[in-house]
Amino acid sequence: MDDLVHGGALGAMARAFPDAPLPWVDLSTGINPWPYHVGAITPGAWQKLPDSEAVMGCVDALSSLVGCAPSTVVMTPGSTAAMVAIRHAFNIDHIATITPTYGGYGEVFANVSAAMDLDAAIATNAKAIILGNPNNPDGVWQNLTTVQALAARLAATGRWLIIDEAFGDIAPHKCVAALAGVPGLLVLRSFGKFYGLAGLRLGAVLGAADAIGAIKSQLGAWPVSGPALEIGARAYADTVWQKQMMMCLHTEAAKLDNLLTEAGLERAGGTALFRLVRTHDAHAIWSKLAQAGIYVRRFGWSEQLLRFGLPPDIIAFERLASALQAQG
Ligand SMILES: Cc1ncc(COP(=O)(O)O)c(C=O)c1O
Repeated sequence: MDDLVHGGALGAMARAFPDAPLPWVDLSTGINPWPYHVGAITPGAWQKLPDSEAVMGCVDALSSLVGCAPSTVVMTPGSTAAMVAIRHAFNIDHIATITPTYGGYGEVFANVSAAMDLDAAIATNAKAIILGNPNNPDGVWQNLTTVQALAARLAATGRWLIIDEAFGDIAPHKCVAALAGVPGLLVLRSFGKFYGLAGLRLGAVLGAADAIGAIKSQLGAWPVSGPALEIGARAYADTVWQKQMMMCLHTEAAKLDNLLTEAGLERAGGTALFRLVRTHDAHAIWSKLAQAGIYVRRFGWSEQLLRFGLPPDIIAFERLASALQAQG
């Protein structure tokens, strides 16, 4: 069962719980269940290699959305690939994080120090500190002034501050992406979460122009497909969709809060794309939900915490409500 600690492993869940009612309700990730409608793709985009106009179309749309210079942006095939490129570009084997945070950092960097707070993270002398903004799974946001000061402090000794804004699009005013260009700071963006298109594999790194150059050289030519660049350019420019989606996600997350609270689960944080709850026996609840065909996120390091993504429709919502009632 330990291999099911991750989110997004629906095939493995179905094999582990063959008697679960179908279809599965997958609430194990923080991916928006109401994705951006990609629309028609320029036919040639499938056939030709993505040219610099295609790349710049996406870079310009993202940089004007977040308020940074285009020269501080490189598009990547997702933020995981971006982290791998950063690791190699700057020889970052050892990073420090503040626990709890996203387990994927440990899969990219060889040595991860999980510190209790920022001072302890700084004291590790790791080559980089990585912080979520907002953090996954507790939803904690970073303070802009702290980020600025910390980046300067780390840069002074050749170290890096990496701010992971994979979930940042849900509250742009709390993002630090506009600081891109400040020495020592790298900001990661993912297209998969808010836009709900994780399978497209699109993301970006924002940073000082020389750092961006070093990251680009790790990615090789044409790292992002033409169709992905076209969809990204369209979605980043679609501020009407973004505003409506932010409102929709906050409404749906509030509905999920009510359901979880009524089931006796105590709110422990989260974002508009997922909620974190505390309970006395998280793993038993996780198993009961799995037997009911509902896949939520549990954590190998905590017997108390569970993370719920947003139910995609009323049927999923009601299945979750009745499964939680049945176990309570
Ligand atoms: C906090 C955080 N950062 C980064 C990622 C990686 O996202 P992607 O590689 O799809 O952009 C994830 C995926 O779950 C995540 O939760």
